[in-house]
Amino acid sequence: MSYLELSSIKKTYPNGFTAVKNINLDIKKGEFVVLLGPSGCGKTTTLRMIAGLEEVSEGTIVLDGEDITGLPPRQRNLSMIFQSYAVWPHMTVAENIAYPLKLRRTGKREIEAKVREAAQVCNIVDYLNRYPGQLSGGQRQRVAVARALAVNAKLSLMDEPLSNLDAKLRVSVRTFLKEIHRSTGATTIFVTHDQAEAMALADRIVVMNEGHIEQVGTTKEIYNGCDSLFTAQFMGTPPANIQKVGLSLRQGRLAAAVKDAAETQFIDLGQQGRFPGIERLVEQEVFLAVRPENITIEAAAGVNETRVEVVEPQGAYTILVVKVLGAEWKIMLEGDIDIRAGQKISLRIDPGKIMFYGAQDNKRIRLS
Ligand SMILES: Nc1ncnc2c1ncn2[C@@H]1O[C@H](COP(=O)(O)OP(=O)(O)OP(=O)(O)O)[C@@H](O)[C@H]1O
Ligand SMILES: [Mg+2]
Repeated sequence: MSYLELSSIKKTYPNGFTAVKNINLDIKKGEFVVLLGPSGCGKTTTLRMIAGLEEVSEGTIVLDGEDITGLPPRQRNLSMIFQSYAVWPHMTVAENIAYPLKLRRTGKREIEAKVREAAQVCNIVDYLNRYPGQLSGGQRQRVAVARALAVNAKLSLMDEPLSNLDAKLRVSVRTFLKEIHRSTGATTIFVTHDQAEAMALADRIVVMNEGHIEQVGTTKEIYNGCDSLFTAQFMGTPPANIQKVGLSLRQGRLAAAVKDAAETQFIDLGQQGRFPGIERLVEQEVFLAVRPENITIEAAAGVNETRVEVVEPQGAYTILVVKVLGAEWKIMLEGDIDIRAGQKISLRIDPGKIMFYGAQDNKRIRLS
């Protein structure tokens, strides 16, 4: 059964701009859901509507069986962590954590107990009497988390809570958030435009684009089966290589070429038998999407021959930039490999991992 239900939610701002078009989403109790999408796609607007900070233009929001669409924020029993005003600088850590409880007219004894408990979970007991200015960025963020935890809300909303931390701290606070979620089981909606963060944290990811939902699924479901070209372009570091191609069959093998290209270059995608039902796509234009890690190379001339343009060593893996059908493709290889720019290599694409998308609707074409 769903715990939070967004039904046909729409938001048109007073200036006439529609930031959220038609959102339908069911969230289960205890789930950690991440809203992921590029800047301006409507993530904060959606979160603010759930919080009651922004009026809903159309649609309904039901939390735990109660229609909260028109309720003021304080009657919704939610906690929020936002990027910009994470903690109040003029209050000590203990006062920060206690503040929302005071607003809820919680008794003094109970407040003390809850502050202590939340501080213990977040490992900040030693700093209860300090001011936020006397803490590191990561410690401050833990105070914000403790403050949200202490109210024991029905729903925890977080809008890019890690974005003002440096890269290393981001990853450690992220792990901490995941541990907290595992121990408290609080239903959480977390907003980010960082797909690595989303993949690491989410039970389910909601990919948003221009005010609508592109896809909802677990990290694995979305990464391995992007429903739309948008999602394929968005997920992965580096993201999938994408090119508009015409498909043809050559001696029992599937080939892709760029239509109207000056040179009749093509790449071999593998045996026809590896693409059951491909016949209906032959001689048609489609988008071809291949993840950088689904290409292997041979350091010799052969099928799909190309030249290495750039080598980007990353320690645990190496990224090669090569020219494929006139475009730059990225290849991700495990380990620190011995290859130089300018070298000739041949490529092999894993046929089982190739994704095709409609040239008109940009939607995934499922074969067979
Ligand atoms: N008060 C407002 N009036 C008019 N348009 C607004 C208002 N607030 C936001 N918008 C617009 O609505 C769209 C969605 O904004 P929103 O803040 O929800 O995006 P976001 O996905 O959170 O982006 P970011 O990742 O940059 O935080 C944007 O195009 C934004 O310019
Ligand atoms: Mg935002």
